[in-house]
Amino acid sequence: MDGNLESIATRWARLSVDRAPYGTGLINLTLSGFIDQRRVIVQRVHPAFADSVHQDIEAVTSHLDRSGVLTPRLVRTDAGALSTIDGEGRSWRVLTFIDGSHSHDRIDGPSRATEAGRTVGRFHAALADLDHGYEHTRPGIHDIAFRRAGIERAVEVHGAHPLYDEVARGVDALGAFTDHLLPVDVTPSRHAHGDLKTSNVLFDGDGSGLCLVDLDTLALMAWPFEMGDAIRSWCNPKREDEPGARVDTTLFEAALRGYHAGCNGLNLDPLEIELLPRGTLTIACELAMRFLTDALEERYFSFDPARFATRGEHNLARARGQLALARSLAAELGSLEHIARTTLR
Ligand SMILES: Nc1ncnc2c1ncn2[C@@H]1O[C@H](COP(=O)(O)OP(=O)(O)O)[C@@H](O)[C@H]1O
Ligand SMILES: [Mg+2]
Repeated sequence: MDGNLESIATRWARLSVDRAPYGTGLINLTLSGFIDQRRVIVQRVHPAFADSVHQDIEAVTSHLDRSGVLTPRLVRTDAGALSTIDGEGRSWRVLTFIDGSHSHDRIDGPSRATEAGRTVGRFHAALADLDHGYEHTRPGIHDIAFRRAGIERAVEVHGAHPLYDEVARGVDALGAFTDHLLPVDVTPSRHAHGDLKTSNVLFDGDGSGLCLVDLDTLALMAWPFEMGDAIRSWCNPKREDEPGARVDTTLFEAALRGYHAGCNGLNLDPLEIELLPRGTLTIACELAMRFLTDALEERYFSFDPARFATRGEHNLARARGQLALARSLAAELGSLEHIARTTLR
């Protein structure tokens, strides 16, 4: 699996690791193991995240713990460190295992949406009084001006690329949404998970939401982007690279009802609530721009060669999915704003 595992595992006394990957994560290498009788998760962290992220994870998860909100916790090495670095410079960590938990790659109905919403609401409410400045930051996240500069540069440089015409059509189509797009600092920042996709919410066997995992993206962020990213993932019944993406308003309402029940005590500003649908639309456009850029630059880590001829074509399909979702969000904007107002106030 990874030649470094053997030496890494010695840094936690009595740690034994199962070499088969655990779960369906795409970013980190996730394994499960045991320390004595206690089950744990062992992760090799993707190099996109610097080791300093563990200071943030520790600050946030200890605060959640103190607030009585379930969360995985980092298990320190015998030397007392939050993580350890292998010979190739990559971080490894051990996390407590959330017993009886499952993650899902899609929201399969309103009750799942409600439970996901409730779980995130609890998380946000518990972090409202956290005083922490983040060690680890990722510039450009949800900054539509930054993304636009990226795609404009790629279009300029890759005029001879076989997918150039298709990408240029995608860029033109994005123009329809310009008036709806929100700037990155549209509302004051709050503590955010930063990657609320469906597979980062854990549920128990009865379908109740348990907690959030995948904490490498913790950040201060405007709420309409934090929740907009969740809505983008939860309320589109299609996969990211499948045609026919749209926003399902029933799932939207169910998710917000759960959120409202979970976030008891979090005082959302009416403007934050009002801007949630446009935050979601901005994220769909941000991702479309990113995938269009990747299509020309032939980048992305999880290309599926069984379904697409080239990396570029897979990225183009992803971009089309986000464009379709953006169209659906723009068409439903009024009704989504109404639902947000009535469920969250
Ligand atoms: N502490 C945990 N307890 C139980 N399951 C976990 C835990 N952490 C992660 N998982 C499972 O492993 C999957 C991948 O982990 P995640 O941290 O999301 O990595 P990735 O960044 O690769 O998505 C999750 O979707 C979840 O199913
Ligand atoms: Mg994940």
